[in-house]
Amino acid sequence: MASLLIKNGRVVDPSLNLDAKRDILIEDGKIKKIGARVFSRRCSRQVGRGAEVIDAKGRLVLPGLIDMHVHLRDPGRPDKETIASGTRAAALGGFTSVCCMANTDPAIDTPAVVKYVRNKAETCGVVNVFPIAAVTRGLKGEALAEMGLMLEEGAIAFSDDGNPIMQADVMRRALEYARQFGVPIISHCEDKNLTAEGAMNESALSTQVGLPGTPSLSESVMVSRDIMLAREFGKVHIAHVSSAASVDLIRQAKRKKIPITVETCPHYFTLTEEAVADYDTNAKVNPPLKTKADLKAIIKGLADGTIDAIATDHAPHNIEEKNVEFNLAASGMVGLETALALVLTYLVDTKALSLKKAVEKLTSAPAKILGLNKGSLKAGSDADVIIVDPKEPWTVDTSKFASKSKNSPFNGLKLKGRVLCTIVGGKVVVRDGKLLV
Ligand code: DOR
Repeated sequence: MASLLIKNGRVVDPSLNLDAKRDILIEDGKIKKIGARVFSRRCSRQVGRGAEVIDAKGRLVLPGLIDMHVHLRDPGRPDKETIASGTRAAALGGFTSVCCMANTDPAIDTPAVVKYVRNKAETCGVVNVFPIAAVTRGLKGEALAEMGLMLEEGAIAFSDDGNPIMQADVMRRALEYARQFGVPIISHCEDKNLTAEGAMNESALSTQVGLPGTPSLSESVMVSRDIMLAREFGKVHIAHVSSAASVDLIRQAKRKKIPITVETCPHYFTLTEEAVADYDTNAKVNPPLKTKADLKAIIKGLADGTIDAIATDHAPHNIEEKNVEFNLAASGMVGLETALALVLTYLVDTKALSLKKAVEKLTSAPAKILGLNKGSLKAGSDADVIIVDPKEPWTVDTSKFASKSKNSPFNGLKLKGRVLCTIVGGKVVVRDGKLLV
């Protein structure tokens, strides 16, 4: 594999506590050297001779982003997404690693399906794919799946995401089991008894627009249950946190050192329930978008460390399932190709988060939660690197997405910050913002 030298960029790597101008030399798929001047005239004989040089002056150079919550729909729904299309969308969005959820068809609930996903990723994927296996068979929330065997086959964590595990004793047994392997259970917190037929957040607005509401409580009730279970039985990671009440509970739990980690998604710090007031099904998501006060609490939670990570919950759905009556539309939105620009525009530009903190939530934080040896530019690490123009304005155009699905509520929105180059294991897969693979 050719060697690459990325010169003159502003390297931001929270794992190294680094925000400075650095050169990075990549050889044989690994970071060979990172330093102030890797390739000076003086040392050119020793290091980097013959390397292709990429000038990153005026650009950000970051560890490849890690998305710990993605729906790749493979196996089962190639009309919505495949590992080929989803990983290309990831690469365009700056994600060099994605962790894919188990609510496929069939579900990723046996070692054979884990193996299928890994093989497919190997042959068709352009970024690293880490399968998250189901907690329960068929995602039914009843019998535990063969967790140990699925880990042996390459699963990295467990989740029934899309479905809550309603029975506390099942969650308890799953946690006890996962604890032996040191991996978290990722919890989709939703009390189904409270959500009923809800299609949006329950509020004055839901009454006004005549849509059945899901009370915010359906999330926080489950968050509090999972905090209590985590206290007794080990690591819970709360997926897609959306409400102020949940953030409050998690903040208190963390103060008590309960082993709980948390992610939120870009739509929860950029949009409110108003986004569905005109029945835009692309903004229908589960958990539903909430109020301005919730959005502010999410941003505060990100800033004070209550919320560890940012994940997309990339949930591709086709037009047939979105272009229908709001109540009947599928929940979820694609997110891989807009996440970084939303973070830069809505969190960093507004000074809600420093750039380093924001990058941490997209790199070293998810790596730490999942025990992945990724998200760092330290010498010897896999050469997963991205180069970003932090200032370039662009307009979201879903017709240009690599994702097979176009269900983004951000279509037409002007954002700042563009991924120019994505390097996965030393291989350039995106250059000048265009896929090469
Ligand atoms: O909106 C959502 N869509 N939330 C989930 O938890 C699952 C996801 C999906 O799989 O479509």
